[in-house]
Amino acid sequence: MNAQIDHALEEIRRFRPSPEFAAQAVADHGLYDAARADRLAFWADQARTLLHWEKPFTRTLDWSNPPFAKWFDDGELNVAVNCLDRHVEAGLGDRVALHWEGEPGDSRDITYAELTEEVKRAANALADLGVRSGDRVAIYLPMIPEAIVSMLAVARLGAIHSVVFGGFSADSLASRIDDAEASVVITADGGYRKGRVFPLKPVVDEALGKTAGSVRHVLVVKRGENEVEWDDARDLWWHETVATASPEHEAQAFEAEHPLFILYTSGTTGKPKGILHTSGGYLTQAAFTHRNVFDLHPERDVYWCTADVGWITGHSYVVYGPLANGATQVIYEGTPDTPHPGRWWEIVEKYGVTILYTAPTAIRSFMKLGRQIPHEFDLRTLRLLGSVGEPINPEAWIWYRHVIGGGSIPVVDTWWQTETGAIMISALPGVTDLKPGSAQVPVPGISIDILDDDGVEVEGEGGGLLVVTEPWPSMLRGIWGDPERFKETYWEKFGDKYFAGDGARRDEDGDIWLLGRVDDVMNVSGHRLSTAEIESSLVAHPWTAEAAVVGASDETTGQAVVAFVILKSSQAAHVTDPAEASEELRRHVATQIGAIARPRQVFIVNELPKTRSGKIMRRLLRDLAEGREVGDTTTLADTSIMQIISAQVR
Ligand code: PRX
Repeated sequence: MNAQIDHALEEIRRFRPSPEFAAQAVADHGLYDAARADRLAFWADQARTLLHWEKPFTRTLDWSNPPFAKWFDDGELNVAVNCLDRHVEAGLGDRVALHWEGEPGDSRDITYAELTEEVKRAANALADLGVRSGDRVAIYLPMIPEAIVSMLAVARLGAIHSVVFGGFSADSLASRIDDAEASVVITADGGYRKGRVFPLKPVVDEALGKTAGSVRHVLVVKRGENEVEWDDARDLWWHETVATASPEHEAQAFEAEHPLFILYTSGTTGKPKGILHTSGGYLTQAAFTHRNVFDLHPERDVYWCTADVGWITGHSYVVYGPLANGATQVIYEGTPDTPHPGRWWEIVEKYGVTILYTAPTAIRSFMKLGRQIPHEFDLRTLRLLGSVGEPINPEAWIWYRHVIGGGSIPVVDTWWQTETGAIMISALPGVTDLKPGSAQVPVPGISIDILDDDGVEVEGEGGGLLVVTEPWPSMLRGIWGDPERFKETYWEKFGDKYFAGDGARRDEDGDIWLLGRVDDVMNVSGHRLSTAEIESSLVAHPWTAEAAVVGASDETTGQAVVAFVILKSSQAAHVTDPAEASEELRRHVATQIGAIARPRQVFIVNELPKTRSGKIMRRLLRDLAEGREVGDTTTLADTSIMQIISAQVR
């Protein structure tokens, strides 16, 4: 982290928008002026301009009971109609909504008219399965069009989706199904990844064996053609159920605060939090930011966000933002290097992608492979690049702009979270001078401060805690089933200001630099993982006595999971080879949580560094994991411990 900060401090490059870009830009300074003049009127105006309200709202914000905000709450709308039907009614039915590219090379172009019809069929099929407004539907699918169709069909009915990333394990899926008491699961037999079919339906079967029994039906898309077991009373094929359902569906309007989805994310405890988002405010900010941050010209742009719909980026910038704006977009099922390392660039060339939104970890792995790979493809259609998920180091920013973007197009670094629902900090292309490495400025209508531990604004360039000082339309409305945890996690520290959990500093121009998490949450390849969740998985293994997990900086993935484990003495006889034990524990975490949580390293040690009160000093373990000299050990109960551990780790 320190090296990263030093680097950031040295960064002085600045790029003015080109006059040509600025002349055609969607955003302008007027947005900032309007938001500054009257923040609530600004958001009300965006909500009215960008969305179709079945019943117009008259109240913009009700913040009388913080932290429970209500936006546009006497208005009514249907989210799916806003993403589909209204575009068809406006004569845009023939516009391609999705250019879908399967990993094996199959592809499908789906127009707005076709997508609307498919969503109507799926909504009818789900209604036939008993799904009603407010019911929860779990979605566990690969990146295929049916994932988007499912989300919109659930939204159309006023039901609540909980998308679970296809890389999560049966245990993770089961706990999410139970927490939300989902009544239906939508999955596929399998999906493609790295040239092979990975099973999904078998994972659902295993998960359902562990749940409390809320699930009545499993709807299965045929994708992988892998063998699956079948329960006639419970399971239905998508192609038999949805394809035969009626394409007519009259959508009902729901109140603006009607729940839209739950998305689980890691917190500081072992149990993932079900972040709850609602309809009108969420869609307003997703559409607003998608249009202005990505300079979307829906009639000519081809937009590609590489995120999976299992993450918030996929919710807001694959599904809701782009479709509300009538964009044409690419979605891709597989991994960037299958069947060859230029696959992404081949896709950019094939569809003439103009806007690309991805994560720094991907950019850094392409950097490692070298510029000759993207240079084999025609990337000249690209005119805007975006980054999300973790700080983008200036080197990666510059490489992205030059090698992928040809040297002169805007790169926007967007800071936000599952909880914020939509982008909160970013430059506006064509308006803001760009500064590599900094996420820069709050988007219009968003109020951000950097405070010290006592809630006092940090003056000058010192670092502090990132806080959102005013409620915003797409803010989380709570943690599913746990209002106390919601208050405690985000609102206890600074009263009615939202505590994001990130460190930040402002430079002399007022630009914001993100400095990483200040809690026990790691960020691996832009994905959030909790140290506590991985520790509890490790101690659940019969060999483990104690475990400590840290996020160590990693050149490609930003951070990597590094674990220190003490084995039970009763196991000493069977576990003689530490390398084997370490491998077994890595595998165990991947099976329990999912492959993304697999530790990069598991060190088998005899001791862990603890304070006199028994608290593990993770800071010292991080020093070890990052190969640094170990810092101040004076508060350790036994100051010689770190030498012993260091020797074991080396
Ligand atoms: O630490 C910040 C980091 O990712 C966290 C949010 O993770 P998640 O909810 O999974 O959402 C990721 C995609 C929006 C934040 O608390 N983060 C996200 N974007 C950036 C970032 N850190 C620095 N710069 C960013 N642009």
